[in-house]
Amino acid sequence: MGAEEITQVIRRRRTVKPKEFSDQSIPRKIVDEILENANWAPTHGMTEPWRFSVFTGDARSKLAEFLASTYQVVTTPETFRQNKYEGMKRNATLAPVVIVIGMKRQPSKKIAELDEIQAVACAVQNMHLTAAAYGIGAFWSSNAAATSDQMRDYVGLSGDDRALGLFYLGYPSHDWPSGKRQPVSEKIRWVDQ
Ligand SMILES: Cc1cc2nc3c(=O)[nH]c(=O)nc-3n(C[C@H](O)[C@H](O)[C@H](O)COP(=O)(O)O)c2cc1C
Repeated sequence: MGAEEITQVIRRRRTVKPKEFSDQSIPRKIVDEILENANWAPTHGMTEPWRFSVFTGDARSKLAEFLASTYQVVTTPETFRQNKYEGMKRNATLAPVVIVIGMKRQPSKKIAELDEIQAVACAVQNMHLTAAAYGIGAFWSSNAAATSDQMRDYVGLSGDDRALGLFYLGYPSHDWPSGKRQPVSEKIRWVDQ
C-alpha cells in the first residue's frame, strides 16, 4: 500500500458545490465503488449504522422540491435564508448523483449515538476520498431540511434513526480547487510526562 498515494488523495479531496459541477454523468461502476468503500468504515460494535439513499435521474428534482418545501416548514422567519432556499431547489438537479446520508440506530442502543454518528462520518469520508481519487468533487450539506425528521422519514428511516445530510457528487466544471488549513501544530498538544 502506498502511503504517498493516500496522503495525496487526502490532501486533494475537496468540497465542490453543485453549481460548480459539469453536466458529465458519473459511471454506475464508480458510484458502486464509492458506496462499497463507505461500507468499510470503522464501526463500534459492528453496527454498521450508515444508510444511503441514492438519488439519480428524475428522482433528483422530486428530492429538490421536497427539500425546499421542508426548509420552509423547519425554519422560522428569523432563520429562513432565501439564498439557501434557492440553493435547495436547484442543487439536486445540478448533481448527477445525490446521496442522503442516514444513521440507523440499533434497537438496543448499546452503542452511544455519538459513536454511530462518528462511524457514519467516517463512511462519508471514505466516499469523499474515493470520489476525489476519480476526480469527482463532493459536497456534504447539513442544512436544517437535510437533517430533519422529515428527511429521515422521506428516505424510509424512522424513530431514533437520523438523517445527517446530503452528499452531492459531480465532476467539477473548472480546475480542481485548492484547499486551505491552519497549521496542524496549532491543534496538537504533545503529552510525554
Ligand atoms: C459534517 C459536515 C457538514 C457540512 N455541511 C456544510 C453545509 O451545510 N454547507 C456548506 O457550505 N459546507 C458544508 N460542509 C463542507 C465544508 O464547507 C467544507 O468541508 C470546508 O469548506 C472545507 O473545504 P474542503 O472540504 O474542500 O476541505 C460540511 C462539512 C462537514 C464535514
